[in-house]
Amino acid sequence: MLANVVHSQIDLHKDFGGVVPELASRDHLERLPHLFDRAFADAGAGPEDVGFIAVTRGPGLAGCLLVGVGVAEGLGASWQRPVAGINHLWGHVYAAMLTRLDLEPPLLGLVVSGAHSDLVRMPEHGRFEVIGRTRDDAAGEAFDKAARMLGLGYPGGPALDRLARTGDARRQPLPKPSLPGLEYSFSGLKTALLYRLRDLGEAAGPREKADLAAAFEQSVVESLVEKLDAALSREPVAEVVVAGGVAANTLLRRRAAEVVAGRARLTMPPLELCTDNAAMIAAAGYFTSPRSGEVGSRLRLPGGGVPQSITVDPSLGWG
Ligand code: KG4
Ligand code: ZN
Repeated sequence: MLANVVHSQIDLHKDFGGVVPELASRDHLERLPHLFDRAFADAGAGPEDVGFIAVTRGPGLAGCLLVGVGVAEGLGASWQRPVAGINHLWGHVYAAMLTRLDLEPPLLGLVVSGAHSDLVRMPEHGRFEVIGRTRDDAAGEAFDKAARMLGLGYPGGPALDRLARTGDARRQPLPKPSLPGLEYSFSGLKTALLYRLRDLGEAAGPREKADLAAAFEQSVVESLVEKLDAALSREPVAEVVVAGGVAANTLLRRRAAEVVAGRARLTMPPLELCTDNAAMIAAAGYFTSPRSGEVGSRLRLPGGGVPQSITVDPSLGWG
C-alpha cells in the first residue's frame, strides 16, 4: 500500500446528527480531485504509474457513487486506463488481504458496517455466499442510534466504544438478542435501551450512561461473536476475517480473537482499514477484476471510443 488518503466528512455532517446525502455527494465532487494529488504525493508516484482504476459501484448513497464513478471514468479516459466497478462489501473483506499478504480464500467473513451485519463464506476470490444477516438494524446502525440516545452525537460508534471503556455492563444489564440460526436482530435491544433510559429519567447520570454503553456494546458484540462461533462450528475453515467499520470496536476485536483462537487464523484489519477507505477497493479490484491483468499496458478502447460505462447500484448486495 503506497498511499491511503481518507477525507472524513464527519465535520460536515455532525451538526445534523447523521449523513446528509446531498451534502455528501457535493463534498465528494469538491474533494475527490484534490485527494488524487495527495495520494500521488504520498506514494511518490504520478498518473503514469497507474495501471488500473478501481471504484466503488455500490452499495452506498447514489449521489456519492455517481460522483466516484464519474471521476474514475473521467480519469480512465484521460489516462487511457481500464476502470472496474467494485462492490463496497467485498472491499471490506479485501482490506484483510492488505493486512496479511498470505491470506487466501476459502474463508469465513463477518462484515459489520453501518448498513450490514453479514456472515459470508468466501470459497474463492470474487465469490461470496451470505450465510447470516440481520433481520432489522445493522450493528453499526444500532451503535449509532444507541449513541444518540446516550447523547453522544455523531459518529456514534467510536464515541460509544470510548464511553463503554469507562462503564460496567453488569450494573445495567441489557438483553442479548437471540434468534435461531445465523440471524441477527438489534432493534429489540435498541428499544430496551430506550425504555431503560426512560425509566431512569433524571437518574441517568454519567455513570449510568457509561454502564449502559458498556451493556449495549456487550449485547451487540456477544450476539455477533455467538453466530460467528456457530458458523465456525458448522463448517470449519482455516481463515476468518472480521471487517467493516464496527470491526474497529475494542470489545469486538478482543472477543472475536478469543472465540476464533485455536480453531482458525483470525485477520482483523487495523482500524484505519476497517472503516471505509480506498485501499480496500483497490485490493478488491486487484484480486477480482480480470482487467487488473492489464496493469502497466495501455488500454485499447474498442474503436477508439469511450469505455463501457460502470453501472452504479446503491442497493447492491453481495452479488
Ligand atoms: O464500514 P463503515 O466505515 O461504513 C459503512 O460502510 O457503513 O462503518 C461505519 C460504522 C458506523 O456505524 C460507525 O458508528 C461504526 O462503523 N463504528 C464503530 C466503531 N468505529 C466505527 N462501531 C463501534 N465501535 C467502533 N469503535
Ligand atoms: Zn463500509
